Amino acid sequence: MPTSDIGLDKTLAALGVAQPEQVAPLFAKIQEHFAAHFGLVHDESEWKIFRDRWLGRKSGVLTQVTDNWLKPASPELKRAVGAALNELRAQVESRVEERRLAIEAGADETTLARERVDLSLPGVIRPIGSRHLIRQVFQEIEDIFFSIGFSVVEGPEIETPYYNFEALNIPEFHPVRDDMDTFYLELPKDAPEPLLLRTHTSPMQIRIMEKRKPPVRVIVPGKVYRRDNPDATHSFMFHQVEGLAVDTDITFCDFTGTIAYFVEQFFGPGVKTRFRPSYFPFTEPSVEFDASCIFCNGSGTAPAGGNCSKCKGAGWIELFGAGMVDPAVYGFVNYDAKKVSGFAFGIGIDRLAMLKYGIDDIQVFFQNDARFLRQFP
Ligand code: FA5
Repeated sequence: MPTSDIGLDKTLAALGVAQPEQVAPLFAKIQEHFAAHFGLVHDESEWKIFRDRWLGRKSGVLTQVTDNWLKPASPELKRAVGAALNELRAQVESRVEERRLAIEAGADETTLARERVDLSLPGVIRPIGSRHLIRQVFQEIEDIFFSIGFSVVEGPEIETPYYNFEALNIPEFHPVRDDMDTFYLELPKDAPEPLLLRTHTSPMQIRIMEKRKPPVRVIVPGKVYRRDNPDATHSFMFHQVEGLAVDTDITFCDFTGTIAYFVEQFFGPGVKTRFRPSYFPFTEPSVEFDASCIFCNGSGTAPAGGNCSKCKGAGWIELFGAGMVDPAVYGFVNYDAKKVSGFAFGIGIDRLAMLKYGIDDIQVFFQNDARFLRQFP
């Protein structure tokens, strides 16, 4: 909207204006231009041009009127020009602001419309994870032991040497500690005692017997830690379920019967099992419990020839250690060893899961690969 035809760049004298009555028609022309320009402003960028054209300090229309018409005007004209200019300024300023508000409101509405939630649209379906296979196996084991009267308790993963070793009849000089020595925590020098990541769930045998009088029948699922080098069947963090049953008349038969029941419920009748004599300082007698290797059908030979890498040619995979609670342990928890007897076991859950679900490498449990996890929804 050019304003050049109004003569803003000239003085009133140059425009031939000498009488106050001639001022009003000039300003009427400016008003006309302003109204026309006002009608063309629809968005923010057009509004900025509009504002600068009319209110710009250097060369806006109002500045030009002030500089070229008002300032050099003769005393007779000054009053009329000043009054008309004031009126024009008030009008221009208020309408420029009015346009700004209208454009802003329009922009707000557009944004609102864009952001409005349409409740009739279908929702976003986010994939829900599933429980990790180890968790599922924990649950299976808990269900089996629930059904024969065991309850579930959990215990701390950070232990004292007393619970992890000494109270389990493993004194400081005992060679079995070499196999199990583990990750000790870095503590301040004035710490009252060392702390370590538990190497097995057996410390919970002590904690439970300290708190409860017989009869005791519990299982303890949880994580344990050892300085073992990783391979297909070893990890430095793995899972165990401890079992403990103590009462006045528990025999080795109760023990083997309970284990046989558990194994049959868990694996079904197909897998062969065996007890082997073993040694644990906290059970006497002690056994290791093995299951036949499902990868080589217990033959010890890999399908492609050579030794089976999973059972290392043995045909059996060790699942857990167990035994009758050593009477020495009762001494640490103030049980009368002459009156009570019981059994305990510590099942390696990761290996149990590997056997049942045909997994040939323990490491896949900890790699968080969704392709593996999705196979066990
Ligand atoms: C123990 O940990 C004893 N506390 C078990 C026990 C409890 C015996 C109660 C008697 C009475 P062991 O060190 O054998 O025992 O470990 C038990 C099981 O944990 C093993 O049979 C094996 O299945 C599993 N296991 C051991 N080390 C690892 C490892 N590095 N990675 C994965 N599984 C392991």
